[in-house]
Amino acid sequence: MNIYEHKEIADNYGLLREIPQSIFDAYALKIVDSSPSHGAILDAGFGVGTIIDGISKAQISRNKGIDVYGIDSSASMKDIASKRLVRIANNATLIQDDLINYLSNKPEYFDIIHFKAILHCFPNPTQVIDAIDTALKPNGLVITGHEESQTEARIERLYRACPRVDDRELEYLLGYYFELRSKLAYKESDMGKTFSMRQFPAGDSSIACDYFATKGYTSYISSLDNEMEFTRKYSLGEVLMSIRLGSFGVFRDGLTDRDMEWLYMELTNFCNKRNIDLQKIHEVPARLRQYQIRKG
Ligand SMILES: C[S@@+](CC[C@H](N)C(=O)[O-])C[C@H]1O[C@@H](n2cnc3c(N)ncnc32)[C@H](O)[C@@H]1O
Repeated sequence: MNIYEHKEIADNYGLLREIPQSIFDAYALKIVDSSPSHGAILDAGFGVGTIIDGISKAQISRNKGIDVYGIDSSASMKDIASKRLVRIANNATLIQDDLINYLSNKPEYFDIIHFKAILHCFPNPTQVIDAIDTALKPNGLVITGHEESQTEARIERLYRACPRVDDRELEYLLGYYFELRSKLAYKESDMGKTFSMRQFPAGDSSIACDYFATKGYTSYISSLDNEMEFTRKYSLGEVLMSIRLGSFGVFRDGLTDRDMEWLYMELTNFCNKRNIDLQKIHEVPARLRQYQIRKG
């Protein structure tokens, strides 16, 4: 089940993930500038539509005659993205379908396929990569990215993906969160409730690039531009709310609604007893990172 089909999760997508639209616009401009004129670009798993919105605006300003498509299987996400796109004179086509199903009917159709933070949603992520390969034209580009910052990467336990900053309070809270999950798993003899690293964690796109390289893709470009740097702001209260909603895959994997509620209560007590301020705004440096890899 795709968790973003839950309206409550789609509506709270911004929790711990809010990135200024100007950063997405800079990210999207790179996508459009990498496309041939009159090309076709697909944003796979468009979510709340921030990136496809940027692609669409960049296509209008560059006037390259590009066809912009987005696909997502969640009706709730399509609803949110459609409202965002309607606000400007938009030229993007939003499709609601299963990505693998859609791509399998579009052989060698797209010049660029972009995706960000979607592979972890699929039971077999390499099938998505194979389907992208099928739907991409010869010499086409795969573009992918992730946010390099404290929150998402720390939640995914990706220490090497957020080397620049540290937040001891967040670390402390998450440490106890994963400890509680292990206790729960032990008590219920269900090891599915413990944390296990995914093959393609949401916060690290370089792993997907490595997989494309095994399929003969080349010209790997990793962008680390200053223009995609920003300050990530969050509170530990938001972290707790994400745990309660299960709005990150990690916070939902193997858990029931009751488990999530229990974890939330335990952690709230934990913070209250230690006078941890749940409303305090934490600020850490963050950056959107983009990778481009060409079909050989
Ligand atoms: C974590 S969100 C990422 C959204 C966006 N790319 C971003 O970076 O903000 C994952 C998205 O993938 C979509 N998704 C999950 N499974 C899918 C499937 N089988 N087919 C199409 N989209 C899917 C979800 O609905 C969700 O919008």
